[in-house]
Parts: sequence; structure tokens; C-alpha cells
Amino acid sequence: MDLLIIGSGGREHALGWKIKQSPKINNLYFLPGNAGTISLGKNLPVDVSDFEAIKQSVISNNIDMVLVGPEVPLVEGLHDFFLSDAQLKDTPVIGPAKAGAMLEGSKDFAKEFMVKNNIPTARYKTFSAGQIDDAKQFMKELEPPYVLKADGLAAGKGVLILDNYDEALAELAEMLDGKFGEASNKVVIEEYLSGIELSVFIITDGISYKILPEAKDYKRIGEGDSGLNTGGMGAISPVPFADEIFIKKVEEKIIKPTINGLQAEGILFKGFIFFGLINCEGNPYVIEYNVRMGDPETEAVILRIKSDFVELLEGVAQNNLRDKKIEIDERAAVTVMMVSGGYPGNYEKGKIIEGIDTVKDSIVFHAGTALKNDKTVTSGGRVLSVSSYGNSFHDALKKSYSNAEKISFEKSYYRKDLGFDL
Ligand code: AMP
Ligand code: GLY
Repeated sequence: MDLLIIGSGGREHALGWKIKQSPKINNLYFLPGNAGTISLGKNLPVDVSDFEAIKQSVISNNIDMVLVGPEVPLVEGLHDFFLSDAQLKDTPVIGPAKAGAMLEGSKDFAKEFMVKNNIPTARYKTFSAGQIDDAKQFMKELEPPYVLKADGLAAGKGVLILDNYDEALAELAEMLDGKFGEASNKVVIEEYLSGIELSVFIITDGISYKILPEAKDYKRIGEGDSGLNTGGMGAISPVPFADEIFIKKVEEKIIKPTINGLQAEGILFKGFIFFGLINCEGNPYVIEYNVRMGDPETEAVILRIKSDFVELLEGVAQNNLRDKKIEIDERAAVTVMMVSGGYPGNYEKGKIIEGIDTVKDSIVFHAGTALKNDKTVTSGGRVLSVSSYGNSFHDALKKSYSNAEKISFEKSYYRKDLGFDL
């Protein structure tokens, strides 16, 4: 079959790398893709939010299936657009329709859903403009730090954690006043949970599901988890504390109630659910839902899936995921993200990247790269991720670090302490 992957990051390159290994794949397309995805298929220079142009690409290339990487087109209703179009309605889309994508698109919706379905999560209330007095009241019931979340999508920047009551109140006022545009018309305030975070993923056809390998992602720019939040500086799988007992709790208390809750609301969810969890003294709580795979978690997790990934995607499309097998590699897998100097603040683009072809025993996935005069250059904050297998995550990290050393571009940076907390 001919398959189209929507998105342009390391996640999409990694998904393409795995999908390309399937004997079921004839042609692979990326929309828009990056300099790395060109080695796997054809890049289509189209914006992920331009549904009409996506339609033309699907029709003119005879695409048989569409896999959506990022959340934005899902929350904007790309799957619904396919379902309501006479020419596209039979082309399966892997990624939920808008109603399901609300689990990521609205924090308020997600929290209400969790409470309704008895899914463990932090205590919360949602506030809109004009409700500052109610918010003050609620914050007095909470212990600091205060967690403030813009309701809508804010490119990973919409969560603020503040130690001080007055500061939190001032931030709340700014958020309700449009600090994150429409995304912060409503603000969720919630109880702070302390523990160690991890990401658990499932693939689902809306009826049954398969649990994919879990991962731990490192979000802060600096070593020892210091400095600003980024899109993710690397990931490790498996997560040592996520043993069988812990994952069983995740399944019973979180995964099953989520699937049942979606069914109860009549939401047919076809795609991936990413549970952003926190382990509080051995018990999992949901910090957030995402309706897609994680980035950079995918660049580690995908290495551990031994089964034909296209079989799983077909299971989603044909509602028979239950009959599919998923086989997991026992080895550890990690990914180390190389970023542009200055990221997540301002950074320069267009730096020539050298040394990728000297990499041995690791797999390089491109994130923010482009081709310029036949040279691979940087085009984003997160540039490349270097993924490796190992008998332990330490062993895998050693390979990724030694290969990252061979890749160079001006002002490149990567964290050298992944796994320090495990
Ligand atoms: P989110 O965008 O909801 O994943 O939040 C971003 C980050 O903020 C998370 O990865 C956590 O590190 C942190 N966070 C969010 N909610 C809470 C909470 N209730 N307690 C502690 N940390 C939180
Ligand atoms: N790694 C976190 C995310 O994909 O949102």
C-alpha cells in the first residue's frame, strides 16, 4: 500500500523508518517531512493545516492510508474532514476525529472526562474571565506550588508552575487576559503532584487496544533537569520503575476507564493515546492526555516494536486490532536529541550538519533539518535525534553519545546526563 505520514519531526521520521520495513509498503510519502525523510519516501511540501491541499495530495498520489503525527491537524478536525468528503471518506486516517482529539485540545474537557470516569488525576477547577474571586478561593484550598494550565493548545508552553500565591494570581489574570491567545480563555488550576513522570502509549481501534513500550522523556534544556522546558531532549525505554505491577495499575485504573469512557460518550477513537503520567508513591496519576505519539519518545519506543507496524495500523483501520500481535524487543532503546544553540529561546538556522554518515550502531532521525544546495542544514530548534539499542539504557546511551560526538553543526548542544534520575 501507499501510505502518507503527516508531520515533519523526529517522530515522523522514526515512524517512517519503521513503516518502511514492512513488506506491505509500496510507496511512502511525508507531508511536509524533512531532510531525513527523503531517504524513505517522497516529501510533499504542504502545510499540515491545509486540508484542501492534503486532499489533492492524497488523490493525486493514490494514497491508501494516512497516519497523522502531530496534534494540531487532529484538533483542527482533519479526520472529520476526510469522513465528510465523498472522495476521501474511504481512506483510513490513523488519528482521532475532533471529538476524541479534545482529550488533548482542551485541558478542561480532559479533566472533566477523567473525573467522570474515576481516573486518578490532580484535583482541579476551571476558571474564565470574571471568575478571579472564585479562583482565589480555590487556590486558598491548595498548597503551593500552584499549577496553571491554558485550556487549549499552546505548543507545549501553556503550563505554569508557581511557588507563590500572589505570583500565581497575577499569572492567572494575564492568562485570562490572552497571554496564550484563545487557548487561555479558560484556565485549569490544579493541585501539584510530586513524583516521577513517564509516558505510556496505546494504539487503539476504539474497541480494543495494545500497550506500546513506555518511555521517560527529559523535557528541561539543562542537565539535572534544570532550565527551561523544551519539546524534549531525549528519551529512555523501558522505564525501570514501570514494572509489571505498575503497568497493571496503569491499565486497570487509567487505560481501561479511558477506553470505556470514550465508548460511553460515543467517541470512536482511532489512533494513539499518550498518557502523560506521574508516579506518586507507586500509584499512577494522569498529568495529561495526548492524542498522538510523543516526540522524542517515539524515537526510542519504535525501536522496541518488533512486529510489523503496518499490521497494527491496519488493525486500527479495519477494527480488528484485537486479532493482531504485538511483539516487544527486550533490549533497551534510547534517543538523544541534538539541538541548536540558544534553543528553546532564539537560535539560528541554516547551519551545515556534518558527520551523519560516520554514525555506526545508532540510528539518526532528523527533526529540524532541511536540504539546501544538496547539503543538510539545521531548520529548527530540535535538529536530530540519535537512537540506539543496548542491553541496558546506560549501554544504549553510551552508543548515542559517542555517535552524537561525530555529528557537528555550529553551536550544537545535547544533554549528557539522561537517565540520571533512574
Ligand atoms: P502538561 O503540558 O500538562 O504535560 O504539563 C507540562 C508539565 O508540567 C508536565 O510534564 C509536568 O512536569 C508539569 N505538571 C503538569 N501538571 C502538574 C501537576 N498537577 N503536578 C505537578 N506537575 C505538573
Ligand atoms: N514528549 C512530549 C510530547 O510529545 O508532548
